[in-house]
Amino acid sequence: MKNYKIALIKGDGIGPEIIDEAVKVLDAVCVGEAFSFSYEEYLMGGIAYDVTGDPLPQATINGAKNSDAILFGAIGGEKWDQLPREKRPESGLLRFRKELGVFANLRPAKVYDELVNASTLKPEIVQGVDIMVVRELIGGIYFGEPKGREGNKAFNTMVYTVPEIERIAHKAFQIAMQRTKKLCSVDKANVLDVSQLWRETVIRIAKEYPEVELSHMYVDNAAMQLIRNPRQFDVILTGNIFGDILSDEASMLSGSIGLLPSASTGLKHGLYEPIHGSAPDIAGQGIANPIATIASAAMMLRYELGETRAADRIEAAIAKVLREGYRTGDIGAYDAKEICSTSEMGTIIANNVAAIR
Ligand code: IPM
Ligand code: MG
Repeated sequence: MKNYKIALIKGDGIGPEIIDEAVKVLDAVCVGEAFSFSYEEYLMGGIAYDVTGDPLPQATINGAKNSDAILFGAIGGEKWDQLPREKRPESGLLRFRKELGVFANLRPAKVYDELVNASTLKPEIVQGVDIMVVRELIGGIYFGEPKGREGNKAFNTMVYTVPEIERIAHKAFQIAMQRTKKLCSVDKANVLDVSQLWRETVIRIAKEYPEVELSHMYVDNAAMQLIRNPRQFDVILTGNIFGDILSDEASMLSGSIGLLPSASTGLKHGLYEPIHGSAPDIAGQGIANPIATIASAAMMLRYELGETRAADRIEAAIAKVLREGYRTGDIGAYDAKEICSTSEMGTIIANNVAAIR
């Protein structure tokens, strides 16, 4: 019997509530499988600042690096918005990603058939959408030097090196090979030098994947095409800030940002988290949608632990609750049979997981 050590980072706002539901589902999925989980909790974000004075304590970095995988809730909130930048919860998260070396952020945006009416776009536009955004996560303008403030000016720098582009491009091509072999690289090569280098490099790497159909799009056009005709996309490869923006946009195709998981992977470590934030406005009310976090746990099983069957079971269980009309409030207006709380939703999915073999 294998035992996987999972680092749990609940964070702020709705973080603790949604992580608890993911744990419920993980505990249900290992029954009858040849593995079990042990969990260790670590502090990060605003709560870590409150307790230790640092949004990313060293104990969290060490604990995360010593685990088999990391499941992360959400961080941040108004309470910490006035802190100097390096003390803010977001800085902790960025440092954490960098420390772990998780350069590839996979953000699937899939529209569940049961929820085609939940999108703000017309059902005939979003039906069948299944996109994977591959976002470079530890470079680009988020990390580039120089950055800072001087007198009446402030500046950040968008930097990518060839090796950084090569490794994320390889990752995206590999994913494309497992999907429909279609990849669209998004940049701003008509304006930015860094994007020109990005495009040249992606074109060169593409020669190693002759089966993949590669296209290129400027980011402004991509933002437009995503809502004009989202089904034209399969894998989208892009840099850090463009990926941040486009993945939020893509999430709305699915109806709620509360549905979408993500995986951040590198050579050694994997960080799995919902793409939404800590939603302080609804924290503690038991109404948050835990599906994005539960789906992130499924991605953890698939991509980090290689437990494909267990991942399939969780994903099938999520589809089943939606088919049966169980909804949290965020998607409650659409074809709902029953509105559930965060923990009811977690329990129903866990029960389904136990029933699916
Ligand atoms: C995300 C978030 C983060 C980012 C913030 C919280 C630093 O928006 O994961 O998309 O910009 O990467
Ligand atoms: Mg974002």
